[in-house]
Formats: sequence, C-alpha cells, structure tokens
Amino acid sequence: MAKADFNVQGGRIFYKGELIEAGIAVQDGKIIKVAKSASLPTAGETVNAKGLVILPGVIDVHVHVRDMSQKTKEDWTTASHAAAAGGITTILAMPNTSPPITTARALKQYKTIARKKSVVDYGVFIGATETNTRELTTSESCGIKLAMGSTTGNLLVEKTEKMRSILETSVKAGKTVVVHAEDEEMIKKRFLALKKRGREPPPKIHSVIRDPEAARIAVSRAIRLSKQTNAKIHIAHVSTRGELIEIVNAKKDGLLVSCEVTPHHLFLSEKDYDAKSHKLKVNPPLRSRSDVSAAWGALLEGIIDCVATDHAPHVLEDKEQDYWSSPSGLPGLETMLPLMLDSVNKSMLSLAHVADLVCTNPAKIFRLKNKGKIMEGFDADLTFVDLKREWKIRGDEFKTRCGWTPFEGRIVSGKPVKTMIRGAIVFEDGDVVGGRGREVQFK
Ligand code: NCD
Ligand code: ZN
Repeated sequence: MAKADFNVQGGRIFYKGELIEAGIAVQDGKIIKVAKSASLPTAGETVNAKGLVILPGVIDVHVHVRDMSQKTKEDWTTASHAAAAGGITTILAMPNTSPPITTARALKQYKTIARKKSVVDYGVFIGATETNTRELTTSESCGIKLAMGSTTGNLLVEKTEKMRSILETSVKAGKTVVVHAEDEEMIKKRFLALKKRGREPPPKIHSVIRDPEAARIAVSRAIRLSKQTNAKIHIAHVSTRGELIEIVNAKKDGLLVSCEVTPHHLFLSEKDYDAKSHKLKVNPPLRSRSDVSAAWGALLEGIIDCVATDHAPHVLEDKEQDYWSSPSGLPGLETMLPLMLDSVNKSMLSLAHVADLVCTNPAKIFRLKNKGKIMEGFDADLTFVDLKREWKIRGDEFKTRCGWTPFEGRIVSGKPVKTMIRGAIVFEDGDVVGGRGREVQFK
C-alpha cells in the first residue's frame, strides 16, 4: 500500500455531503485517501483530530487585502494571518487597492507581493474601468471586478455601453465578472441633495442614500447585460429582497448568474447602527430586518450560492470621521466561519449547507482547481473546527491590522482551531505557525 506523509485521524470529516468518522491520508500536500482508520496507508506521522470536525478549506471569494500604500490598514501578511485564523485557506483579493489593479502588469506586481507574504492560497481580480477593456483579457486574474456604484477606491463603470463591452470581453477571456451592483446615478443624486443641506446626518442615513431600489435596479441591469452577452456574472454582497427576486428569475431562465451574501448582511441590520458612530457604514449598507430575513430565506432555499466576507479593513480612526469622510467597509475574515458555525449550533442551517456555501460552491464558481472538497487528488486544505467551543468575539485579539470587529462582544459557539493548507499546518492554537501561500490554479 502507498505510504502517506501523515494521516489525519480521530475527527469527523465532511465527505461527499455528509459528516463521517474517517481519516485522511496526505502526501506531498495532496489528499491521497479518505477511509476508515484501518484502511489508511501507513504514515510517518499522525495529526490527531479527536473531538474536531474537519471541513474542506474555507474559501473567501471577496477580500480587500489593501497593502501597497495602505499597509497601515492591512497587508498580505496581516490579511492572510487573519484568514488562516478564521479557518480560511484561500482568498480571492479585490483590485480596489491604491494604486488600483487595472492592468495585467499591476496584477502581476500585486501577486508578487502576495507570493512573498501570504500564508494562505490566493487569487487576484482585475478591476474594470471604462477604458481598460483590453487589459481584462489577461489570464493572470481569477476574475474581473466591476463596480456599478462608487465605493472605496476609484473603480467605477457607469455607462451601460461600457459594461456591455466588459461583459463581452469576459466571455472571450473565460472569466467570471463579479458585480458590485448599486446604481450610481440614484446614489449620487441623493448624496448631493443631502450634502447641500449641510447638516451632519446620522449614521443610518447611509441605508437611505444607498437604498434597496438602487441595488435592485443595478442587479436587474447586470442580469439583462449578462443575458445579452452570455457573460457569467457573480453578484457580490446581495442584501435585499428585490435583488433576490431578480436573481431567482434569472436563475429560472437558466442565466449564468451566481451570488454571495456577507455575514454582516445576515447577522446585522439597520437596527444595529449606533446613533453617533459611522463604524457600521458599509456598501451596500445594512438593511431592514425584513431584508435580512429575505436573505436568510434565500440562503435556506439555495438561491444564494456562497457566503463571502467582503473583508474591508478600515482603521477606527478613519471610521470615526464625519459621515462624508468615513470610509465604507467592515472587517470579517475572523468572524465569518464562527458566525456560520454558531448558526449551525442554533439549528438555523446544516453544517453540510455551510460547507457548500463557504467551501464547495466558491471553488465551483471560480473554477478553482483541486479546492473546495475533501477528496482524493484534491489539495490537503483542511479547516479543523471545534464545533461546540463557546467564545467571545474580541477585535483586539484578531490578526487583522485594523484591530476591530462589528461583532464585538458576541458570544458564539464554534471556533476554527487549526488550519492546514496543502498539507502544512498554518494556524494552530491561536497562532500562525507557518505557511507559504500559492496562487490558485483554474480548471
Ligand atoms: C469596500 C472597501 O472598503 O474596499 N467597502 C465596502 O463598503 N464594502 C469596497 C467594496 O467592496 O465596495
Ligand atoms: Zn468589496
């Protein structure tokens, strides 16, 4: 029988859609066998997973890593450490960096930084502008990011004609387009009217300026363009009932549309705005309880394909400015999996469904090779969780450089305790212990 480098034993593993008691044999960073202990190959070492549940490595398809001129907020070291601590083994990084990633050259340079610093595996999106269509054909990206509404950074595509040509290009390049769908014209109109009044508005105004209709209209336009061009689109951070209705209909029509929801749109609502602080300002904004329950309903019905963090590390000092200057975005790498596990413990959804949402489906949508499943031939990316561990979320214990969390003080059950990437333990007992991230490959 073949010999393994090591066997993972004693835990319950998520295999072919269910939790089973079995071991995993690993050689050269790959899973070579999944079997009951007695049938595993002999191995030099054993990784003891007694009492733990082992999921396929979690994949977060929406991460703002920053770095370059924004290292004070986050860089590839701190973001990837935060990911590993959150049980995440692969991140797909967004291009609204400073400077932005809008050329094949900038993309390569950014990946060089990732290669040097990241402890988790990674891919990087290229950002679409109204003038860089030719750059989007590069094979070096994990996809194309298209912002229909202005947000942090300066990537924005307002003209429908430009959007159409970007989608056409994506088809030729064989890339998925991730769409930030909020209608710029509606947002801008309201923003300027409010600014004219001159008064400092309360934090909750953000949910009025960028209202559900602005999101629905943009999603509807994106879907229409996808239908016309046959482009594969992925709607980022869906947060409203209206968007979900558009997406359900598109899926029924057989269009190439997938979508994600963020933990903050599942676990926070407008009710959480603090009267004074702009901490919770995020794009798209927090929504009504009714929209939150629509998101949960769609998640449970399988309309939502994945959960992604939209980890946007802004330091509190920046967040504490007035409404006009406070940047939008919330950190989330270290809280996504714990919040989802807590929901499993509260019987809100099954663990198998969580694995689909954060492991299997992300790999499928972005065609990541050998990722997203515990299966022979796949990378030995494993997220070990203590499903019953109760703990209190505290931002000052996190590895993200921004040092805070919108879920401060929440008590949750379920904690990632060990993270393995291609056979190497990267995070264990609260510390990052090694790891060398590698760029993802595509199927
Ligand atoms: C993101 C950021 O800060 O980079 N902010 C946010 O509110 N989500 C940008 C984005 O994804 O819109
Ligand atoms: Zn984002």
